[in-house]
Formats: sequence, structure tokens, C-alpha cells
Amino acid sequence: MKTIVINGSPKGEGSNTVKLTRAFLSGLGEADARFYHLADMEVRPCRGCYACWKTTPGECAVRDGAKDVIEALRGAELVIWSFPLYYFSVPGLLKNLMDRQLPNLLPFMAERPDAHGSGSHHPRYDVSGQRHVVISTCGFYSPEGNYDSVCGLFDHMCGKGNYAGIFCGQGELFSRPELRRRTDEYLALVETAGGIQKRGFPVGGHAEFDGAAALPERGV
Ligand SMILES: Cc1cc2nc3c(=O)[nH]c(=O)nc-3n(C[C@H](O)[C@H](O)[C@H](O)COP(=O)(O)O)c2cc1C
Repeated sequence: MKTIVINGSPKGEGSNTVKLTRAFLSGLGEADARFYHLADMEVRPCRGCYACWKTTPGECAVRDGAKDVIEALRGAELVIWSFPLYYFSVPGLLKNLMDRQLPNLLPFMAERPDAHGSGSHHPRYDVSGQRHVVISTCGFYSPEGNYDSVCGLFDHMCGKGNYAGIFCGQGELFSRPELRRRTDEYLALVETAGGIQKRGFPVGGHAEFDGAAALPERGV
């Protein structure tokens, strides 16, 4: 399976979220998946010039690191979006990349097959078999109620219920070596989720992690 990971954490490989993503990939049997660490790449914001629709269809006028990712998104069978929650949404680093996907869409407005929202742009390339997994950690004690904007965004981008999500509270626990015994238990669950994905793709759900349960009984 051609799997790519788009890592929107400014911490690159040192990201809490990437620990979950690596566990997922291990369960999936795709440990060699291609990572795009956006923090290490130059991804400038979309200029809004519409050159990718009008003058050079499918090609962005901004020449930078986003080109590789935009092209990889056309051929990937599984796209894993890995990022921390920033201000109840995706980090700017990742939003810049998402905006730069315009070359991969056609300019015409069309009804959405799932009737979600008020229209859409059909993909320029055949990505009908493409799957998406969203993996994110946040700082608050629970992901509950914190991911409304993220879900709203991915509902539009991938189709409502057409992606699987793993949203995890207290993400900073994953950078504490003294809590490793407990956080490893969670990573084992994420690895299992990767194994389930391997056997068949369950879409339309997301898992949330109550990080407090990972704390030792007598407080940290
Ligand atoms: C600028 C900034 C904004 C953040 N916004 C939120 C937020 O809205 N909600 C939340 O629960 N955590 C928030 N956090 C905490 C991060 O999501 C959390 O530390 C996460 O585990 C970091 O993941 P990473 O190591 O993969 O980058 C924020 C952190 C930063 C630096």
C-alpha cells in the first residue's frame, strides 16, 4: 500500500503525535511509509492567484517544498494526517499545505455526492480509492469538544465519515519518560488500530484517549 504521512507538528520527528503515528504504522505493517515533516520543508502560503486553475492547470505557481507533497497526494492510497491541536484547529504549518492542494482540484463547482455543505470541487486526479487517517494529540485533559473545527475541516476535505480519526488528550504525557509504562499501553492500542486498518478500513469513527487514566494513581 502506498502510504504517506503528513506531519504538521513543528517538532518534526520529536512530536508527541508522531509517537502515535509510528505505533499506528507499525500495526499497519507500513513502518517504511514516506514522512513529510512540514517543519523541515519550505511550504509558503497559497497566493490565491488561481494559476493552478487558469494558466497552468494542476500546477502551482509557487515553487517550493509543497510541490512534492501535492504530487504525492495524487498517488497515495492512504494519507495519514499527523498534527497537534493548535487553537482548536490544525497548526498554521499544516493549514498552509492544505490550502496549497488547490491544483489537485478542478475549478468547477459541483454537488457533493454526500450532500455535505453547499457544493465542492471534484478532484482533478482519480483518488477514489484513497483513504485518510487523522491522528492528533492535544494538551487538554480530554479531546472531547476540542476537535469540532478539525472534524468540520476533514468532513469537507475527505467527506463526512470518510476518514478515521485518533484524537488524544494530554499529549504531553508522551514526552515524559517516567510515564512510559502507561503511555506505552495506549500506544499498544494505537498499534492495534493500525492492525485493524490493515485488515479492512473502518471509516466514520474516531477514538479519544482519556490521558488522565494514564497518570499514576498518586498524582504527577
Ligand atoms: C500554539 C499552541 C496552541 C495549542 N492549542 C491547543 C488547543 O487549542 N487545545 C489543546 O488541547 N492543546 C493545545 N496545544 C497543546 C498541543 O496540542 C499539545 O502539546 C500536543 O501534544 C503537541 O503535540 P506535538 O508534540 O505532536 O506537536 C497547543 C500548543 C501550542 C504550542
